[in-house]
Amino acid sequence: MKFFIDTANLAQIKEANDLGILDGVTTNPSLMAKEGISGTENILNHYRAICDIVDGPVSAEVLSVNYEDIIEEGKKLAALHKNIVVKVPMIKDGIKAIKWFTDHEIQTNCTLVFSAGQAILAAKAGATYVSPFIGRIDDSNWDGIELIEQIVNVYTAQGYMTEVLAASIRTPLHIVRCAEAGADVCTCPLTSILGLLKHPLTDLGLEQFLKDATKL
Ligand code: E4P
Repeated sequence: MKFFIDTANLAQIKEANDLGILDGVTTNPSLMAKEGISGTENILNHYRAICDIVDGPVSAEVLSVNYEDIIEEGKKLAALHKNIVVKVPMIKDGIKAIKWFTDHEIQTNCTLVFSAGQAILAAKAGATYVSPFIGRIDDSNWDGIELIEQIVNVYTAQGYMTEVLAASIRTPLHIVRCAEAGADVCTCPLTSILGLLKHPLTDLGLEQFLKDATKL
């Protein structure tokens, strides 16, 4: 399973990249706003800065919601860098646009996916990635991991090439469960990635080893 970081914060992207386990980045308008990035030129420059840090797919989300505008915006984003993946919402015009991008060899990430039916449409349109939001499903009292399992099963049964990109990760356990469920990619906040490091027995064991090492 590939690891993407889900943030627009350059320091966090660099920290995850320096770990040597980072495969890519996802952003969204809320994450860009959180970093205070606004205005077309600043937004484009920020994507360039992310691509300079990470040598892997960088999802850049369109702000448009109608077909022609999504295409125009996506073309500009894709022209920024070979690693840019155009992130398009799961709406009717979004699906049409994803098909256009597929036909023009532009990579896409179909975002805001909450059902297997939506994931089938994204795959039929040729999306490179489909992003089910498992944390938001859990938040609304459903089971996000079950959706990942269902989409993985459908894609395997049908031979779809679209990669399942588990999004809206809240905890290190989400990452483990996504790996078990067969997700191709997990996009996570830095806290969840670093949370995978932690186990109290590791800390206790290391403390004892370091204590005993002073006797050597
Ligand atoms: C994915 O691409 C989204 O940017 C993200 O995972 C959404 O996460 P949230 O539900 O924590 O906002």
